[in-house]
Amino acid sequence: MSIYAVCGKGGVGKTAFTAMFTKALLESGKAGKLLVIDADPALGLANALAVRPEKTIGQLRESIIETAREGGDSEKGEIARMLDYLVMESLVETDDFALMAMGRSETLGCYCPVNDILRDAITMLSRKFDTILIDGEAGLEQINRQVLREIDCLVILTDSSARGLQTVGILKEMVGKRDAAPCRKVGVVFNRVRGDEAFLAQAAGKIGIEVFGFVPEDPEVGKYDMAGKSLAELPPGSEAAAAVRGIAEKLSVPECGDARREA
Ligand SMILES: Nc1ncnc2c1ncn2[C@@H]1O[C@H](COP(=O)(O)OP(=O)(O)OP(=O)(O)O)[C@@H](O)[C@H]1O
Ligand SMILES: [Mg+2]
Repeated sequence: MSIYAVCGKGGVGKTAFTAMFTKALLESGKAGKLLVIDADPALGLANALAVRPEKTIGQLRESIIETAREGGDSEKGEIARMLDYLVMESLVETDDFALMAMGRSETLGCYCPVNDILRDAITMLSRKFDTILIDGEAGLEQINRQVLREIDCLVILTDSSARGLQTVGILKEMVGKRDAAPCRKVGVVFNRVRGDEAFLAQAAGKIGIEVFGFVPEDPEVGKYDMAGKSLAELPPGSEAAAAVRGIAEKLSVPECGDARREA
């Protein structure tokens, strides 16, 4: 059992990377039963994988609250007890993997209840799936609030910008401050790289973070995104897809997950 999460600054390519990583895990034959979670309230992963979720967790939660209100009983505890129902109802199964979209609550500006559900859902679903891959929301919130706490492998994605690197530093520091799990891998993946690997590796060294790999700028990714085509279907010659395959190979850490669960 392994849980991977992808986080980083907005717009650096988290969703594109997660979609390519999904494909790479499937191809590796090591993923077993795979669940991908779109944990970005703005969604996007379902599109990048050409999957149509019927209802997000946020929407299901709202309809439960609405029903509870109509019946004169809107206790929050009632909703918490419905976690299993919420989660199973929102899963979309494809031939190769399952997908769950968190979405957001209708309450303006507040993603907290959905993040609370996500935290518990990860624990529950880790018993039902062999591999879980999470496309996190942009920024620091889910790490800061320990929504993504039981992760075997945290991929911090960044572009080559100074601000991207700054976010990597902050995320790494946040993760380092939390109680250490028995086995946790944290590293950076540089995306949209154009031949400046040596400089970027040096920057990662200064931050003190492991480099998981480099994904090159690849016009095919943009073309597929623009046409609304699944990034899991990129041609075998795609340089970005090939680089992600290499990273997935390196990060296959089933023994880490097992160690964590036995502890
Ligand atoms: N390796 C790549 N080569 C070329 N284009 C890329 C690459 N990776 C991502 N992109 C493009 O960058 C843009 C942003 O990617 P994406 O939506 O995956 O970022 P994100 O981090 O998920 O954004 P958000 O924070 O909004 O969720 C998209 O137009 C995507 O096609
Ligand atoms: Mg995204």
